[in-house]
Amino acid sequence: MSKLKVSDIVSKKGKEKITSLTAYDYITAKILDEAGIDIILVGDSLSNVIQGNTTTIPVSMDEMIYHCKIVSKAVERALVIGDMPFMSYQISLEEGIRNAMRFLKEGNCDGVKIEGGYEILDLVNKLTTYGVPVMGHIGLMPQRVHLYGYKLATDESLIDVAKSLEQAGAFSIVLEKVSYKLAEKITKAINIPTIGIASGPHCDGQVLVFHDMIGLNKQKFKFVRKYLNAYELFLNAVKNYIEDVKGNKFPSLEESYE
Ligand code: KIV
Repeated sequence: MSKLKVSDIVSKKGKEKITSLTAYDYITAKILDEAGIDIILVGDSLSNVIQGNTTTIPVSMDEMIYHCKIVSKAVERALVIGDMPFMSYQISLEEGIRNAMRFLKEGNCDGVKIEGGYEILDLVNKLTTYGVPVMGHIGLMPQRVHLYGYKLATDESLIDVAKSLEQAGAFSIVLEKVSYKLAEKITKAINIPTIGIASGPHCDGQVLVFHDMIGLNKQKFKFVRKYLNAYELFLNAVKNYIEDVKGNKFPSLEESYE
């Protein structure tokens, strides 16, 4: 299995859909990689999914790096992208560059994802100049929830934002909760792939939070297709174990050493 490169992802545009899911740990990353996913995103959504926070804001750089390290260890083929968390790139260009580079140097990632538009162009430009692949992220930006909420993005000005990110050197752009008509226009307007979440079928690729698509998260979202009801399955397995231990049915002698 040979490792995918950024150029392999970019060249899929218009030819083949790009697949992406989140992973925050070794075993999940191994499963996704073996299944043939193209991009594993170590998303700052781990703040919600793993840490139990209500937003992505609390997760720190060190915590992101920790999860990137353990995910990267498992991956042979997929591109591993680390998500730059809140306060890791907004303070200064210098901090943004240092933190982005930590994802490659310490987290063994193949690139970083950054939420933002015109205000991050300098950073994207500098990073790509120095060899750090950048995935943009526009539309709904969860790190800005306190100001904008989780609104659907319909503003056509996003087309120019996407073009600017491409010009600054981004190799792809996540479109989050963008109306599917606008997502289609953006996808047609740029030469780099768009990766959609809650943005309809016309994007060049799709990304979902793994825990949502396997139903480990009990919440229901219109844009998520649940491929498994993992919460129920896990719950029943644990209930069966409790019953077996209490009823002296586990372990059997066959499951014991003589
Ligand atoms: O953090 C994350 O998981 C993300 C995806 C939802 C795109 O940013």
